[in-house]
Amino acid sequence: MTAPIKAGKRIGILTSGGDCAGLNAVIRAVVHRATGYGWQVLGIKEGTQGLLQRPVQYQTLDLGCVDGHMMRQGGTILGTTNRGDPFAYPMPDGTLKDRSDEIIGGYRELGLDALIGIGGDGSFAILHKLAQKGGFPMVGVPKTIDNDLGKTEVSVGYDTAVAVAVEALDRLQPTAASHHRVMVLEVMGRDAGHIALAAGIAGGADVILIPEIAYSIESIAAKIKDVRDSGRNFALVVVSEAVKTLEGTGVKKVLQGGEKRYGGIGDYIGEKIADATGAETRVTVLGHVQRGSMPSPRDRLIASAFGVHAVDLIAEGKFNRMVAWANRGVIDVPITEAIEHYSCVELDGALVKTARGLNISFGD
Ligand code: F6P
Repeated sequence: MTAPIKAGKRIGILTSGGDCAGLNAVIRAVVHRATGYGWQVLGIKEGTQGLLQRPVQYQTLDLGCVDGHMMRQGGTILGTTNRGDPFAYPMPDGTLKDRSDEIIGGYRELGLDALIGIGGDGSFAILHKLAQKGGFPMVGVPKTIDNDLGKTEVSVGYDTAVAVAVEALDRLQPTAASHHRVMVLEVMGRDAGHIALAAGIAGGADVILIPEIAYSIESIAAKIKDVRDSGRNFALVVVSEAVKTLEGTGVKKVLQGGEKRYGGIGDYIGEKIADATGAETRVTVLGHVQRGSMPSPRDRLIASAFGVHAVDLIAEGKFNRMVAWANRGVIDVPITEAIEHYSCVELDGALVKTARGLNISFGD
């Protein structure tokens, strides 16, 4: 963890925000490419938390660490956190303190020449601010199962999350049919319905509810009646966690320390469907299962391409960029543009059109 820092070009890498499948594949690719340039790679522990601690928490990453297993491994070997904005860091006495100088000090202590941050929009906003303040070069690699980062068609982790949700629908379908039930599956996607939409289409849902499209229970009930009238005895409903109640409120759970996270809209919708249709209804909340799995082949591929390109950007001296996927390949964009452009489901996009073409109801 605290091996002596050797002289020479040295880059740091950290994972930040909620984990997802494919993070280790990015780290592996970065180590391979950087080693090819003859650079040293230091993996910073627990996101920016590692730079806050003294001694700074890191591990040296070389080809010896990136074995055949690493690309297949879920989570992040470096650890991560989605808490503790260093510009407003929660202190034990309840106050908020600007600890950004300590993080910048940690970066300097490691003698880094550049930093690769693997994160989502929130993490990039913080890392970019730190890089600007500390005057250090930074490159971002997009990851989030929610796939809501602007300026990239896809982020690491999304494909695996969709695959997990589709597998859940595949497993729910036979039990739904056996018991003549309506099965409601609640999936993640903080404020964007990408996972619900893709999984719903690929998993044969009858109804997909996403936060981008307002629904009514009457419309959902009418769809379930149509399904019954067609002679089918079950229905599958996918609901994104960020869908609001009919009164317009998000359904959230209060966690330790008062933090809130989405969770529970599936039960709400399930109850409403049961009341409106008389159907026996069951609810499954998929939760963090969507983040924890072995990465899909596509996530491994995208992660590998992103990792290589991120190192190449540093080699070219191109900083404050985020690597991105577009038109079958890897490009890079100003990281500020990615932070500014939130990507929710486009109502006139191909997937909404596809779902409507398949007679899937959005409850609208
Ligand atoms: O942003 C990724 C995500 O997995 C969301 O889909 C979900 O709402 C949230 O993170 C869960 O966060 P936590 O890991 O803090 O429970």
